[in-house]
Amino acid sequence: METVSIEVKTVAELANAPAEYREAASKIVRSHAINELYGAQVFDEPAVAFAPTPYWKWLTCRVAMEEYGHHQRFFRLGQKMGIAPETMIPGKTDKRPLSIFEFTMRSWPEFCVIKLLADMAEIIQVEDLMECTFRPLRDEAAKTMPEEKFHAGFGLRSCTELCRTEDGRRDVQAAIDALFPGMPAFFGQPRSKNNALYRKWGLKQHTNEAMRADYLERARVLVEDKLGLKLPAPA
Ligand SMILES: [Fe+2]
Ligand SMILES: [Fe+2]
Repeated sequence: METVSIEVKTVAELANAPAEYREAASKIVRSHAINELYGAQVFDEPAVAFAPTPYWKWLTCRVAMEEYGHHQRFFRLGQKMGIAPETMIPGKTDKRPLSIFEFTMRSWPEFCVIKLLADMAEIIQVEDLMECTFRPLRDEAAKTMPEEKFHAGFGLRSCTELCRTEDGRRDVQAAIDALFPGMPAFFGQPRSKNNALYRKWGLKQHTNEAMRADYLERARVLVEDKLGLKLPAPA
């Protein structure tokens, strides 16, 4: 599919953009609003109860606050774009959250691994959006990025701390074995029609396949080089 040269600087300008562009931009914003909120609800907020010390509870609260903040950011942008609010709330819309959120989190090491591996996937998505042709979305991505980097750093630091003991290492490896095989699906289907449309309009820059390959290499560095553990095969 050929790419179209376009830049939409404001939400007001979006009204003059082609319908296909508006629809594609709305899909991306809606998806982020839904998934940031759902992730905060099923992982980050419940993890505060799992955090083992006041220090880790404090940092986990900050992560949860920021994930709810990410939802707010995309939700407010969506409202300005005229997206119906209920279509950006999981449970109120028939659009389902990503499959990664079906993982049942039962422990602190599992949460630490979610931050290590799932937030790295989010970083790759947000990096891509930082080059988006819809400037308001690009700006929200830029504001979100330092916080996502903090979350991934939190994951690495908490996993490193756990790995200092034999039991902790075993728990982190078990959590990686449970979570990681489902992660590559986060990047969507190969040869996706939506992704082709996003790239046509410069809303996204990379194919799902390219982002997945980038992710697999970054996950390998984290798990094998930094933690000295084993990365299981993707599902
Ligand atoms: Fe987030
Ligand atoms: Fe995050």
